[in-house]
Amino acid sequence: MVAENLALIAGATGAVGERVVDVLVATPGWQVVGLCRNPPESARDNVRYVKTDLLDARSCRQAVAAAGAVTHMVYCSRSPFGEGGVEDVPSNVAMFRHVLEASDVKSLRHVHLVAGGKWYGLHMGPFRTPADEDDPRHIPPNFYYDQQDFMSALRARRDWSWSSSRPNVIVDVAPGRGRNLISLIGAYAAICRETGAAFDFLGKPGCYDTLFELTDATLLARSIQWMLTDPRAADQAFNITNGDVFRWSRIWPMLAKYFGLECGIVRNTSMEFWMRGKEAVWDGIVQKYQLRPLKMEQVARWAFGDFVFGMDYDVVSSMNRARLAGFREMEDTPAMFLRHLNVYRAARVLP
Ligand SMILES: NC(=O)c1ccc[n+]([C@@H]2O[C@H](COP(=O)([O-])OP(=O)(O)OC[C@H]3O[C@@H](n4cnc5c(N)ncnc54)[C@H](OP(=O)(O)O)[C@@H]3O)[C@@H](O)[C@H]2O)c1
Repeated sequence: MVAENLALIAGATGAVGERVVDVLVATPGWQVVGLCRNPPESARDNVRYVKTDLLDARSCRQAVAAAGAVTHMVYCSRSPFGEGGVEDVPSNVAMFRHVLEASDVKSLRHVHLVAGGKWYGLHMGPFRTPADEDDPRHIPPNFYYDQQDFMSALRARRDWSWSSSRPNVIVDVAPGRGRNLISLIGAYAAICRETGAAFDFLGKPGCYDTLFELTDATLLARSIQWMLTDPRAADQAFNITNGDVFRWSRIWPMLAKYFGLECGIVRNTSMEFWMRGKEAVWDGIVQKYQLRPLKMEQVARWAFGDFVFGMDYDVVSSMNRARLAGFREMEDTPAMFLRHLNVYRAARVLP
């Protein structure tokens, strides 16, 4: 049977891409071709992975030729980067340009670009909140600006439409992906317990009390599916977050209770520094509780913790545009924390 929609997902195995694939293939009428350098070995219904190097224009053209009549392209890749810094513009723009030029074919109906909170300069310091999609840009470089400008300029001469999502810090149940706040906090709690330490908040004091927001990866994927298909989303960018805000000062005691630990104090220090050399402690936890044999870096990327717990200013985006255009889903963030942690425990990734 020929599917009505054939989506090409660039970066199909990443934090965003994996969930976009899940959501699309669970919907009748959709087939997916996923691009990445290291395709998964196990097969899935309605998904075909094609080994591609997005940095190579020829490789992108070959991948699209092998995919068939692509109707939607979702771009959720990025080149390697250091936490919290300015991400490389030439490589990120080249990757996007190569795959967009290759998939700019007659059958194409929509292009979706995943951007993020760095659009507003959240990595530079305080920014205007709640962030509005039309807020003025910060001084370049910012690869998101170049990618969106390239896409919208090309679209002006084409029949397809575009959309872009701007999620904030993405959270998920993703065993083996250390760059995930939920498993990072769970691993930190397990190490606190094992070493007899209180559940201190290791980060900037201002961060503990400021307003913050997160984006659940599945919620983001559902919003992307909405943008791919709803004409009200055409040719626009949308902030996508859980739709609520929180303060760590409210969440941290709740998490301490969940882990059965004493809620500690705020310590203005680096997780990456204090977790250095704790691999043996983690390996001991894995053995003691008969967890899946994942290494500490597969459960917690501490530098990512330092980036998140170092933002001592409000991180809030307005969800008004998406809601008014028709996407009204939301996540209750405190409940999401507990739900994700329960799944991690059930999957024997956390004790
Ligand atoms: N994660 C977050 O918390 C977050 C928050 C806000 C915004 N965002 C944005 O969301 C977008 C996606 O980020 P992500 O976190 O999902 O990325 P990610 O987890 O690092 O995934 C990157 C994906 O791209 C593939 N890839 C990387 N280089 C490639 C290349 N040269 N050729 C082919 N495939 C390549 C990777 O697979 P291979 O390694 O196998 O190639 C993987 O599938 C980015 O724009 C990011 O800034 C992310």
